[in-house]
Amino acid sequence: MQIQQVGVIGAGTMGNGIAHVFARSGYSVVLCDVEQRFLERGLATITKNLEREVAKNKITTEEKASALKKIDPVTDRARLAECDFIIEAATEKFEVKTEIFRDLDRLARSGVILASNTSSISITKLAALTKRPEKVIGMHFFNPVPVMKLVEVIRGLATSQETFATVRELAVKLAKTPVEVNDAPGFVSNRVLMPLLNEAMYAVMEGVATAEAVDEVFKLGMAHPMGPLTLADFIGLDVCLDIMRVLQDGLGDPKYRPCPLLIRMVDAGWLGRKSGRGFYQY
Ligand code: 3HC
Repeated sequence: MQIQQVGVIGAGTMGNGIAHVFARSGYSVVLCDVEQRFLERGLATITKNLEREVAKNKITTEEKASALKKIDPVTDRARLAECDFIIEAATEKFEVKTEIFRDLDRLARSGVILASNTSSISITKLAALTKRPEKVIGMHFFNPVPVMKLVEVIRGLATSQETFATVRELAVKLAKTPVEVNDAPGFVSNRVLMPLLNEAMYAVMEGVATAEAVDEVFKLGMAHPMGPLTLADFIGLDVCLDIMRVLQDGLGDPKYRPCPLLIRMVDAGWLGRKSGRGFYQY
Protein backbone atom coordinates (compact mmCIF):
# COMPACT_ATOMS: atom_id res chain seq x y z
CA MET A 1 0.00 0.00 0.00
CA GLN A 2 1.34 3.43 -0.91
CA ILE A 3 1.41 5.77 2.06
CA GLN A 4 -0.02 9.19 1.17
CA GLN A 5 -2.19 10.15 4.08
CA VAL A 6 -0.84 9.85 7.61
CA GLY A 7 -2.73 10.04 10.89
CA VAL A 8 -1.03 11.53 13.96
CA ILE A 9 -2.64 11.14 17.39
CA GLY A 10 -1.64 13.89 19.80
CA ALA A 11 -0.76 17.49 18.97
CA GLY A 12 1.65 17.95 21.90
CA THR A 13 5.41 18.48 21.66
CA MET A 14 6.13 15.23 19.82
CA GLY A 15 2.86 14.95 17.86
CA ASN A 16 3.09 18.43 16.37
CA GLY A 17 6.75 17.85 15.48
CA ILE A 18 5.83 14.57 13.76
CA ALA A 19 2.97 16.24 11.85
CA HIS A 20 5.43 19.00 10.87
CA VAL A 21 7.99 16.62 9.33
CA PHE A 22 5.39 14.49 7.50
CA ALA A 23 3.68 17.59 6.03
CA ARG A 24 7.05 19.12 5.08
CA SER A 25 7.88 15.89 3.23
CA GLY A 26 4.66 16.10 1.18
CA TYR A 27 2.35 13.76 3.11
CA SER A 28 -1.24 14.74 3.94
CA VAL A 29 -1.66 14.65 7.70
CA VAL A 30 -4.78 14.17 9.79
CA LEU A 31 -3.74 15.56 13.18
CA CYS A 32 -6.05 14.35 15.93
CA ASP A 33 -6.34 15.46 19.54
CA VAL A 34 -9.12 15.37 22.11
CA GLU A 35 -9.71 19.13 22.34
CA GLN A 36 -9.72 21.94 19.80
CA ARG A 37 -7.43 24.08 22.00
CA PHE A 38 -4.70 21.39 21.92
CA LEU A 39 -4.92 21.35 18.12
CA GLU A 40 -4.72 25.15 17.98
CA ARG A 41 -1.67 25.18 20.22
CA GLY A 42 -0.04 22.42 18.14
CA LEU A 43 -0.69 24.26 14.88
CA ALA A 44 0.69 27.50 16.35
CA THR A 45 3.91 25.64 17.26
CA ILE A 46 4.16 24.08 13.79
CA THR A 47 3.68 27.52 12.19
CA LYS A 48 6.39 29.03 14.42
CA ASN A 49 8.82 26.20 13.68
CA LEU A 50 8.17 26.35 9.91
CA GLU A 51 8.84 30.11 10.10
CA ARG A 52 12.15 29.35 11.82
CA GLU A 53 13.02 27.10 8.87
CA VAL A 54 12.09 29.84 6.40
CA ALA A 55 14.28 32.31 8.31
CA LYS A 56 17.20 29.83 8.08
CA ASN A 57 16.58 29.34 4.32
CA LYS A 58 15.88 25.65 4.83
CA ILE A 59 12.46 25.95 3.17
CA THR A 60 10.71 28.66 1.11
CA THR A 61 7.62 30.63 2.15
CA GLU A 62 5.64 28.61 -0.44
CA GLU A 63 6.85 25.33 1.09
CA LYS A 64 5.79 26.56 4.51
CA ALA A 65 2.30 27.45 3.22
CA SER A 66 1.98 24.13 1.41
CA ALA A 67 3.05 22.14 4.51
CA LEU A 68 0.48 23.97 6.65
CA LYS A 69 -2.26 23.31 4.08
CA LYS A 70 -1.49 19.59 4.25
CA ILE A 71 -2.41 19.38 7.95
CA ASP A 72 -6.04 18.72 8.75
CA PRO A 73 -6.71 19.17 12.51
CA VAL A 74 -9.55 17.01 13.84
CA THR A 75 -11.07 16.06 17.18
CA ASP A 76 -13.09 13.20 15.66
CA ARG A 77 -10.88 10.11 15.76
CA ALA A 78 -13.09 8.37 13.17
CA ARG A 79 -11.42 10.61 10.54
CA LEU A 80 -8.29 8.47 10.92
CA ALA A 81 -10.09 5.66 9.06
CA GLU A 82 -8.99 7.40 5.82
CA CYS A 83 -5.29 7.16 6.68
CA ASP A 84 -2.70 4.79 5.15
CA PHE A 85 -0.42 4.90 8.21
CA ILE A 86 -1.13 6.03 11.79
CA ILE A 87 1.31 7.10 14.48
CA GLU A 88 0.29 7.63 18.07
CA ALA A 89 2.05 10.31 20.13
CA ALA A 90 -0.29 10.62 23.09
CA THR A 91 0.50 10.78 26.81
CA GLU A 92 3.11 8.28 28.01
CA LYS A 93 0.64 6.20 30.05
CA PHE A 94 -0.13 2.58 29.21
CA GLU A 95 -3.89 2.97 29.99
CA VAL A 96 -4.15 5.90 27.56
CA LYS A 97 -2.34 4.01 24.83
CA THR A 98 -4.41 0.85 25.48
CA GLU A 99 -7.63 2.69 24.70
CA ILE A 100 -6.12 4.33 21.62
CA PHE A 101 -4.63 1.14 20.13
CA ARG A 102 -7.87 -0.83 20.61
CA ASP A 103 -9.79 1.96 18.90
CA LEU A 104 -7.27 2.38 16.07
CA ASP A 105 -7.36 -1.35 15.39
CA ARG A 106 -11.14 -1.10 15.00
CA LEU A 107 -11.00 2.06 12.86
CA ALA A 108 -8.08 1.55 10.50
CA ARG A 109 -8.18 -0.56 7.33
CA SER A 110 -6.70 -4.03 7.80
CA GLY A 111 -3.38 -3.40 6.00
CA VAL A 112 -2.61 -0.15 7.84
CA ILE A 113 0.47 -0.03 10.09
CA LEU A 114 -0.09 1.34 13.59
CA ALA A 115 3.04 2.95 15.00
CA SER A 116 3.71 4.40 18.43
CA ASN A 117 6.10 7.21 19.25
CA THR A 118 6.27 5.86 22.80
CA SER A 119 9.56 6.64 24.48
CA SER A 120 9.60 3.52 26.64
CA ILE A 121 6.38 1.47 26.68
CA SER A 122 6.56 -2.09 25.31
CA ILE A 123 5.66 -2.32 21.61
CA THR A 124 4.97 -6.04 22.11
CA LYS A 125 2.29 -5.18 24.71
CA LEU A 126 0.70 -2.51 22.50
CA ALA A 127 0.70 -4.94 19.57
CA ALA A 128 -1.02 -7.61 21.67
CA LEU A 129 -3.98 -5.25 22.18
CA THR A 130 -4.74 -5.45 18.45
CA LYS A 131 -5.72 -8.08 15.90
CA ARG A 132 -2.75 -7.00 13.74
CA PRO A 133 0.32 -7.44 15.98
CA GLU A 134 2.54 -7.93 12.91
CA LYS A 135 1.59 -4.40 11.82
CA VAL A 136 2.41 -2.65 15.11
CA ILE A 137 5.81 -0.99 15.52
CA GLY A 138 7.67 1.71 17.44
CA MET A 139 8.73 4.84 15.56
CA HIS A 140 10.48 6.96 18.16
CA PHE A 141 11.30 10.55 17.20
CA PHE A 142 13.41 13.01 19.21
CA ASN A 143 12.69 16.51 20.39
CA PRO A 144 12.83 18.92 18.55
CA VAL A 145 11.47 16.59 15.87
CA PRO A 146 12.13 18.93 12.91
CA VAL A 147 15.82 19.10 13.90
CA MET A 148 16.88 15.75 15.37
CA LYS A 149 17.97 13.22 12.75
CA LEU A 150 17.32 10.01 14.68
CA VAL A 151 14.31 7.72 14.52
CA GLU A 152 14.55 4.59 16.68
CA VAL A 153 12.56 1.91 14.84
CA ILE A 154 11.45 -0.64 17.40
CA ARG A 155 10.39 -4.15 16.55
CA GLY A 156 7.88 -5.77 18.88
CA LEU A 157 8.09 -9.53 19.20
CA ALA A 158 5.43 -10.00 16.49
CA THR A 159 6.38 -7.11 14.16
CA SER A 160 6.82 -8.43 10.60
CA GLN A 161 9.85 -7.77 8.44
CA GLU A 162 7.55 -6.07 5.91
CA THR A 163 6.26 -3.62 8.55
CA PHE A 164 9.80 -2.94 9.74
CA ALA A 165 11.05 -2.31 6.17
CA THR A 166 8.11 0.04 5.41
CA VAL A 167 8.71 2.15 8.51
CA ARG A 168 12.46 2.26 7.98
CA GLU A 169 11.85 3.52 4.45
CA LEU A 170 9.30 6.04 5.72
CA ALA A 171 11.87 7.48 8.14
CA VAL A 172 14.33 7.91 5.24
CA LYS A 173 11.64 9.71 3.21
CA LEU A 174 11.31 12.15 6.13
CA ALA A 175 15.08 12.82 5.84
CA LYS A 176 15.68 11.04 9.15
CA THR A 177 18.15 8.27 9.97
CA PRO A 178 16.44 5.10 11.22
CA VAL A 179 18.24 2.91 13.75
CA GLU A 180 16.91 -0.58 14.44
CA VAL A 181 16.30 -1.47 18.06
CA ASN A 182 14.57 -4.45 19.68
CA ASP A 183 11.79 -4.04 22.19
CA ALA A 184 13.05 -3.55 25.77
CA PRO A 185 12.13 -0.98 28.44
CA GLY A 186 13.33 2.47 27.31
CA PHE A 187 14.73 0.94 24.10
CA VAL A 188 18.32 2.26 23.73
CA SER A 189 17.84 6.02 23.91
CA ASN A 190 15.94 6.33 27.16
CA ARG A 191 17.51 3.27 28.81
CA VAL A 192 20.79 5.17 28.70
CA LEU A 193 19.70 8.83 28.73
CA MET A 194 17.15 8.83 31.57
CA PRO A 195 19.42 7.32 34.26
CA LEU A 196 21.92 10.08 33.36
CA LEU A 197 19.30 12.81 33.85
CA ASN A 198 18.02 11.09 37.02
CA GLU A 199 21.55 10.91 38.45
CA ALA A 200 22.09 14.61 37.65
CA MET A 201 18.94 15.31 39.71
CA TYR A 202 20.35 13.29 42.63
CA ALA A 203 23.52 15.39 42.44
CA VAL A 204 21.42 18.57 42.76
CA MET A 205 19.22 17.10 45.51
CA GLU A 206 22.25 16.03 47.55
CA GLY A 207 23.89 19.43 47.18
CA VAL A 208 26.85 18.12 45.17
CA ALA A 209 26.42 21.09 42.83
CA THR A 210 23.79 23.51 41.57
CA ALA A 211 21.75 22.72 38.45
CA GLU A 212 23.77 25.38 36.60
CA ALA A 213 27.07 23.79 37.66
CA VAL A 214 25.97 20.26 36.69
CA ASP A 215 24.89 21.58 33.28
CA GLU A 216 28.18 23.44 32.77
CA VAL A 217 30.11 20.24 33.49
CA PHE A 218 28.27 18.41 30.71
CA LYS A 219 28.31 21.28 28.22
CA LEU A 220 31.97 22.14 28.61
CA GLY A 221 33.40 18.77 29.65
CA MET A 222 31.42 16.41 27.44
CA ALA A 223 30.31 18.75 24.62
CA HIS A 224 26.60 18.07 25.20
CA PRO A 225 24.51 20.78 23.49
CA MET A 226 22.39 21.07 26.65
CA GLY A 227 23.28 20.05 30.20
CA PRO A 228 21.18 17.21 31.70
CA LEU A 229 18.92 19.45 33.79
CA THR A 230 18.22 21.85 30.93
CA LEU A 231 17.48 18.77 28.82
CA ALA A 232 15.17 17.32 31.48
CA ASP A 233 13.25 20.63 31.57
CA PHE A 234 13.12 20.56 27.77
CA ILE A 235 11.77 16.98 27.63
CA GLY A 236 9.30 17.63 30.49
CA LEU A 237 9.83 16.41 34.05
CA ASP A 238 6.56 14.44 33.97
CA VAL A 239 7.79 12.57 30.88
CA CYS A 240 11.15 11.89 32.60
CA LEU A 241 9.33 10.49 35.64
CA ASP A 242 7.03 8.30 33.51
CA ILE A 243 10.05 6.86 31.71
CA MET A 244 11.98 6.20 34.94
CA ARG A 245 8.93 4.30 36.24
CA VAL A 246 8.80 2.18 33.08
CA LEU A 247 12.52 1.38 33.53
CA GLN A 248 12.01 0.60 37.22
CA ASP A 249 8.98 -1.67 36.58
CA GLY A 250 10.36 -3.30 33.46
CA LEU A 251 13.95 -3.93 34.57
CA GLY A 252 13.41 -4.26 38.31
CA ASP A 253 16.85 -3.00 39.27
CA PRO A 254 16.90 -0.42 42.13
CA LYS A 255 19.33 1.70 40.11
CA TYR A 256 16.28 2.92 38.14
CA ARG A 257 14.62 4.44 41.23
CA PRO A 258 13.27 7.89 40.24
CA CYS A 259 15.00 10.71 42.10
CA PRO A 260 12.75 11.94 44.99
CA LEU A 261 13.38 15.54 43.89
CA LEU A 262 11.96 14.68 40.45
CA ILE A 263 8.83 13.19 42.06
CA ARG A 264 8.37 16.26 44.27
CA MET A 265 8.77 18.67 41.37
CA VAL A 266 6.20 16.80 39.27
CA ASP A 267 3.81 16.79 42.26
CA ALA A 268 4.24 20.57 42.47
CA GLY A 269 3.37 20.94 38.78
CA TRP A 270 6.92 22.09 37.97
CA LEU A 271 7.17 20.23 34.70
CA GLY A 272 10.00 22.15 33.06
CA ARG A 273 9.88 24.52 30.13
CA LYS A 274 6.24 23.82 29.22
CA SER A 275 4.93 24.87 32.67
CA GLY A 276 7.30 27.82 33.09
CA ARG A 277 9.26 26.24 35.93
CA GLY A 278 11.48 23.22 36.38
CA PHE A 279 15.16 23.21 37.35
CA TYR A 280 15.09 26.68 35.77
CA GLN A 281 12.47 29.43 35.44
CA TYR A 282 11.18 30.23 31.94
N1 3HC B 1 11.88 23.46 14.81
C1 3HC B 1 12.63 23.73 13.74
N2 3HC B 1 13.93 24.11 13.85
C2 3HC B 1 14.44 24.27 15.09
C3 3HC B 1 13.69 24.00 16.24
C4 3HC B 1 12.37 23.57 16.07
N3 3HC B 1 11.59 23.29 17.12
N4 3HC B 1 14.49 24.20 17.34
C5 3HC B 1 15.70 24.59 16.87
N5 3HC B 1 15.67 24.62 15.51
C6 3HC B 1 16.81 24.87 14.63
C7 3HC B 1 17.28 26.28 14.66
O1 3HC B 1 16.60 27.07 13.73
C8 3HC B 1 18.77 26.14 14.31
O2 3HC B 1 18.94 25.97 12.91
P1 3HC B 1 20.40 26.20 12.22
O3 3HC B 1 21.28 25.08 12.67
O4 3HC B 1 20.12 26.14 10.75
O5 3HC B 1 20.88 27.52 12.70
C9 3HC B 1 19.14 24.81 14.96
O6 3HC B 1 17.92 24.09 15.13
C10 3HC B 1 19.81 25.04 16.29
O7 3HC B 1 18.92 25.83 17.10
P2 3HC B 1 19.33 27.15 17.88
O8 3HC B 1 20.50 27.84 17.21
O9 3HC B 1 18.10 27.96 18.15
O10 3HC B 1 19.73 26.63 19.29
P3 3HC B 1 20.81 25.59 19.70
O11 3HC B 1 22.01 25.63 18.83
O12 3HC B 1 20.93 25.78 21.15
O13 3HC B 1 20.10 24.17 19.41
C11 3HC B 1 18.82 22.33 20.05
C12 3HC B 1 18.86 23.83 19.97
C13 3HC B 1 18.79 21.72 18.63
C14 3HC B 1 17.50 21.98 20.75
C15 3HC B 1 20.07 21.81 20.82
O14 3HC B 1 20.20 22.47 22.04
C16 3HC B 1 20.08 20.33 21.07
O15 3HC B 1 20.41 19.53 20.20
N6 3HC B 1 19.70 19.91 22.32
C17 3HC B 1 19.62 18.52 22.71
C18 3HC B 1 18.31 17.99 22.27
C19 3HC B 1 18.13 16.55 22.65
O16 3HC B 1 18.97 15.92 23.26
N7 3HC B 1 16.97 16.01 22.26
C20 3HC B 1 16.64 14.67 22.56
C21 3HC B 1 15.72 14.68 23.74
S1 3HC B 1 15.32 13.05 24.22
C22 3HC B 1 13.94 12.71 23.37
O17 3HC B 1 13.40 13.49 22.63
C23 3HC B 1 13.40 11.34 23.55
C24 3HC B 1 12.16 11.32 24.36
O18 3HC B 1 11.66 10.00 24.35
C25 3HC B 1 12.34 11.75 25.79
